[in-house]
Amino acid sequence: MANSTGSNILIGISGSIAAYKTADVVSELSKQGHSVQCILTDSAAEFVSPLVLETLSGNPVRSALFGSDISGTEHITLARWADLMVIAPATANTLAKLALGLADDLLSTVVLATEAPLLIAPAMNTVMWDKPVVQGHVQTLRSRGARFIDPASGTLACGEVGKGKLASVAQIIEAIADALVDPLPQDLAGKRVLITAGPTTTPIDAVRYITNHSTGRMGAALAEEALRRGAEVRYVLGVDKGVQRPIPPKGTAGRLKLTEVRTAEEMADAALRDLPFVDGVIATAAVMDYRIETPAAGKLKRATEAVSLALVPSVDVLGTLREHATTQWFLGFAAETDDVEANGLSKLKSKNLDFLFANQVARQGETQPTGFSVDTNGGTLFRKDQSAIAIEVQSKASLAREIWNHLP
Ligand code: CTP
Repeated sequence: MANSTGSNILIGISGSIAAYKTADVVSELSKQGHSVQCILTDSAAEFVSPLVLETLSGNPVRSALFGSDISGTEHITLARWADLMVIAPATANTLAKLALGLADDLLSTVVLATEAPLLIAPAMNTVMWDKPVVQGHVQTLRSRGARFIDPASGTLACGEVGKGKLASVAQIIEAIADALVDPLPQDLAGKRVLITAGPTTTPIDAVRYITNHSTGRMGAALAEEALRRGAEVRYVLGVDKGVQRPIPPKGTAGRLKLTEVRTAEEMADAALRDLPFVDGVIATAAVMDYRIETPAAGKLKRATEAVSLALVPSVDVLGTLREHATTQWFLGFAAETDDVEANGLSKLKSKNLDFLFANQVARQGETQPTGFSVDTNGGTLFRKDQSAIAIEVQSKASLAREIWNHLP
């Protein structure tokens, strides 16, 4: 449990030349008011003196699993004590042991026994870091929720130049601060999702168009949550005045690909291009069901007589994606003014979806805490077998978290 001024941070140090830098991390965390305990592997003790870490942390340094002065459950006590477990530096050998779930020394045993979030800062030779077997272990650990502080590039202790240096003390301290504030699991790591969002528009002439009230907030919340939890997001956004773009949480911008479109047809084309690269599709876009048949190329002039605009059906973006899908799952949205549940269920079936979220939108002249242009939403999430999960009205951010908890 955290003490009143800081958190309980357990630092695992494995045997890399960079181990000495962790002393600065321990020193800084102690200064910030955190309680720090260190676990050294046998090889780490070759690179950094336990006495240095003991002095800087103010706590005994542990390394043995057994011994006459060690209780048989010390590893469990340490595992429960930690609010956050950090491994810096993590060697290739330590990564392999953690990925496999081995427990043959104190560090690996405590990692297996703790429920604290895990933050790993690897350090090794660049050829080792690039090896598929090492990258495979990184991927395995990420997919189980571990966060990584990627090694930096530069001249390594062995003289080679490349990626593999332990991240800087400042980066490690910053990542620890982030993890303490937001210890979300990275349970969507390795997952790839396509999200359509926002309104579409249909031009009447060179200066006028028809659109709807969508602001893209629900799509942005779902994208931000997916990025925060480790997923890659391909985001196709219908843009109009006031539309919201997702704001990638710190360090996740590289996992967001944003394509901006205006019409339903452009949205379908862009989304179809992204479809082969994703595992699932979330369609939050409020797509115009009709388009102006022949928009005027120039600006229409004022006239006194009535005009009628010929509207023809536009493309069904979700339907088109469904037709071209291979193994992807689909979540559709249904914003309804009337018979929300019945309309939602019938869209789940008619559109052949795996999930459908149905919510109320305001009738003309009314207001609603759900639907377009508000920061809150709530409704019913239907699954393919028609089972229903009622989700109460809450912020779109926390609704996004809850919806993602039910997705593959
Ligand atoms: N959708 C889409 N392309 C369209 C219409 C809808 O991709 N041309 C998607 C929406 O993004 C949403 C779902 O289909 O996920 C349901 O949208 P909705 O407008 O409720 O469905 P419609 O089939 O247009 O039904 P309605 O008659 O209620 O407008």
